[in-house]
Amino acid sequence: MRVLLTGHQGYLGTVMAPVLAAAGHEVVGLDAGLFADCVLGPPPADPPGHRVDLRDVTAEHVADVDAVIHLAALSNDPLGSLAPELTYDINHHASVRLARLARDAGVRRFLYASTCSVYGAAGGADLVTEDAPLRPVTPYAESKVRVEDDLHALADGDFSPVFMRNATAFGYSPRLRADIVLNNLVGHALLSGEVLVLSDGTPWRPLVHAADIARAFAAALTAPREAVHDRAFNIGSEINNVTVAEIAEQVAEAVSGSKVVITGETGADPRSYRVDFSRFRAAAEGFDCEWTVKQGAVELADAYREFELTRDDFERRFTRLAVLRAASDSGAVDDTLRWRP
Ligand SMILES: NC(=O)c1ccc[n+]([C@@H]2O[C@H](COP(=O)([O-])OP(=O)(O)OC[C@H]3O[C@@H](n4cnc5c(N)ncnc54)[C@H](O)[C@@H]3O)[C@@H](O)[C@H]2O)c1
Repeated sequence: MRVLLTGHQGYLGTVMAPVLAAAGHEVVGLDAGLFADCVLGPPPADPPGHRVDLRDVTAEHVADVDAVIHLAALSNDPLGSLAPELTYDINHHASVRLARLARDAGVRRFLYASTCSVYGAAGGADLVTEDAPLRPVTPYAESKVRVEDDLHALADGDFSPVFMRNATAFGYSPRLRADIVLNNLVGHALLSGEVLVLSDGTPWRPLVHAADIARAFAAALTAPREAVHDRAFNIGSEINNVTVAEIAEQVAEAVSGSKVVITGETGADPRSYRVDFSRFRAAAEGFDCEWTVKQGAVELADAYREFELTRDDFERRFTRLAVLRAASDSGAVDDTLRWRP
């Protein structure tokens, strides 16, 4: 298939592009390149791509494309809360526009990167299925719910949106993010000797390796239409349904000499959900995640050591919010986060 991969220069896109290529697909990227230089380790070999803002996409970008994988977004809760209106412009309106253009151009499958954050403060011991009520607690998560609703309305006999509700990602990507929980805790542990948990550690936070997300999207591309058409899927694995305290323990084991510090305060983030991932395993027969949290912590610690992660890079270069703030302060981007000419 010829696949348009938006967000191909992000954390997940940089891992996904080679997985799709290895599966035999022709990948064309599309990204504004906001984090293109946020690289840890050898520079990635990006597929050919369009350097364009999602809000400026035209019919040309979706011409001759069989499927779209849509990752491009302001990608986390703090970013969304910083500029809610931008989050809705980019994550919601521009995504729905892209989907309409794709449908009009005859694209048959549209895989949308949603998130388990749509379940919000689901709490409790029960596993959350895709049919659970959606309780987004941030503009970021709300934007994902709105896109799911609007794409659902576009589904028809020729156009199949698929809602991939990813757990929180972890693991090494050449375009690293250090602002997601496991990647962050491993960095703290190495740089300070402490695995610092700024809460009581009790929230459930299911995790999934970036490479497993990439394999899941590759599987969803070729799964039978009737198995995935207009359906939501939780992407992850029950073995990685962990509390933040458990994540911290795994990190302390992976980074020798580090110790867990749980501050015990009420965390700022009310999200807590344990998730059932069986629907996707059934739809994409043979799919299962390969990575455990422990393996990911070891992999990250090795990569951080090998590529000599510095505190400055950890706090600025690999933290999405800090990168955008710096680009805005320096005038590189305008107040709508578009590059200035
Ligand atoms: N990483 C996770 O834990 C996680 C979990 C669930 C869902 N997701 C979703 O997966 C997707 C990818 O996440 P990620 O971790 O790779 O994030 P990321 O921030 O690393 O990548 C997002 C990419 O989108 C691009 N982008 C942002 N705004 C754009 C715009 N206006 N025009 C064009 N490109 C733009 C950025 O340049 C970047 O390359 C996002 O939609 C995110 O919400 C991520």
